[in-house]
Amino acid sequence: MTNTTQDIQKVGAQLPPAAKYRSFPTIALKDRTWPDNQITKAPIWCSVDLRDGNQALAIPMSVTEKLEMFQLLCEIGFKQIEIGFPSASQIEFDFCRRLIEENRIPDDVSVQVLVQCREELIRRTFEALEGAKQAIVHIYNSTNPAQRRIVFGMSREQIKGIAVNAAQLVRELADAHPETQWTMEYSPESFVLTELDFSLEVCEAVAAIWKPTPDNKIILNLPTTVESSTPNVHADQIEWFCRNLTNRENAIISLHTHNDRGTGVATTELALMAGAERVEGTLFGNGERTGNLDIVTVALNMYSQGVESNLDFSDLPRVREIYERTTRMDVHSRHPYAGDLTFTAFSGSHQDAINKGFAAQQEDAFWEVPYLPIDPKDVGRDYEKIVRYNSQSGKGGAAFILEQFYGFDLPKAMRIEFGKIMNAFADREGREIAFQEIFDQFESEYLNNTRPLELDSFRSSEREQGVKIAARIRKNGESIELVGNGNGPIAAFVNALQNAGIDNFSFKAYAEHSLQSGAGAQAAAYIEIEQEGRTFWGAAIDASIERASIKALLSAINRSMAKG
Ligand code: KIV
Ligand code: ZN
Repeated sequence: MTNTTQDIQKVGAQLPPAAKYRSFPTIALKDRTWPDNQITKAPIWCSVDLRDGNQALAIPMSVTEKLEMFQLLCEIGFKQIEIGFPSASQIEFDFCRRLIEENRIPDDVSVQVLVQCREELIRRTFEALEGAKQAIVHIYNSTNPAQRRIVFGMSREQIKGIAVNAAQLVRELADAHPETQWTMEYSPESFVLTELDFSLEVCEAVAAIWKPTPDNKIILNLPTTVESSTPNVHADQIEWFCRNLTNRENAIISLHTHNDRGTGVATTELALMAGAERVEGTLFGNGERTGNLDIVTVALNMYSQGVESNLDFSDLPRVREIYERTTRMDVHSRHPYAGDLTFTAFSGSHQDAINKGFAAQQEDAFWEVPYLPIDPKDVGRDYEKIVRYNSQSGKGGAAFILEQFYGFDLPKAMRIEFGKIMNAFADREGREIAFQEIFDQFESEYLNNTRPLELDSFRSSEREQGVKIAARIRKNGESIELVGNGNGPIAAFVNALQNAGIDNFSFKAYAEHSLQSGAGAQAAAYIEIEQEGRTFWGAAIDASIERASIKALLSAINRSMAKG
């Protein structure tokens, strides 16, 4: 066993959490103001898909895939895109060169490149950027106490010295290439774990060298490299930093949250409320470990609050398709806004409320459809997929699907009966049930339920005292002639059945509607009967409403016989 493996195993020793971990210290900022703030405008967005996102992929993107992703990011509306780490490898260098030499960078987009605070790497980075119209050079070094002690064995002064020396070289090289419009960015890596006064000291030392102005601001990027606290603590850190930074007007405070605690989005949102103006992140949150900030979610959260995000996610399925293909990562089915199930309701009561919400929604009114935080259309999704059916869907779900997709408007009491049938079916199957299967069940249980009784022929004539009918039915294939009278065709048919000895039921309820308009119009009829205290529904369709009613009655009787 190697030393490293032994060391890692030693760390795995069983300890209670209180002996192994410490709670994250709070920030002494009693007069914090951020909790009262709201996000009212979009930040400057910077995509780090091609750098932080790409470096976390098992199979990094090929140059062709990177080009496709870059193109997509431009189309979405990113004006700042971190394209990689050109000094780290030839592929990264070549990609940067290709974007510049093939004129692929739109005039209003700045490419950003990351580089460690090391002389040879910084020089190589400037070579990669030669000829760029505008570029952001992003340098970083770790500033937090654990890394200073464990990894570098350096004092605060020495760590600050690394940043200052790098900043000086960046300044010189940038001054030597005035043909490019330079923006400079510095990240105290693991800002979240660094003493606030020290982060501030290093950032101010770097700023003193770069000499930013309100027209050419320094970007101070304050990462939660490993998300370590609740979001409110990071918001306090950001408010503290903004308040204490000298010449605040010369700086853009940038967020770069990761998602180790699963709260990257919340952390970014609270930190924006605390005064940050810029956000680095990736599509769908791809990135190291549990990922970077998911920019799609933050932007669409903003959108759902009525704030223009300046990012176009109106065709989110296309964004997702390109993302999944180029990164080989999956978007989870429950991912906000983008997941397959995001605009889907299994619960019958939710389905019902959504249905009513759509019916009530006015075109020019605020969005108010229950259970749908935004209009699925706004992100290129459609309504049809909103409803899904499984054993959790409740009694109304199946009837809702029959109504929405097959045009059958079942009476309320029948919805409950059919809901029970479908629930039992879904329970037996133990899986999601397709709409067609719901219709098939409806068809075999009601519409095609012709055993033992099936209508053969039917004639009705109006008389002074009501209606007379003459009909022929088949009972298990044997033909039976029927005659009867009543005040309407159904009553006359009930009377005819009684005359033939089929009389152990009473008629309870009736409903009908047309199924579709035009020449091929069909009528749907629903009839409820009672037999020995139990009720049974029947249903049928036919071009003639009278025939549909008679067939529905036979369907109800057949069901009662089968269950009796
Ligand atoms: O997470 C991080 O700290 C980074 C820096 C390099 C900005 O990715
Ligand atoms: Zn990062």
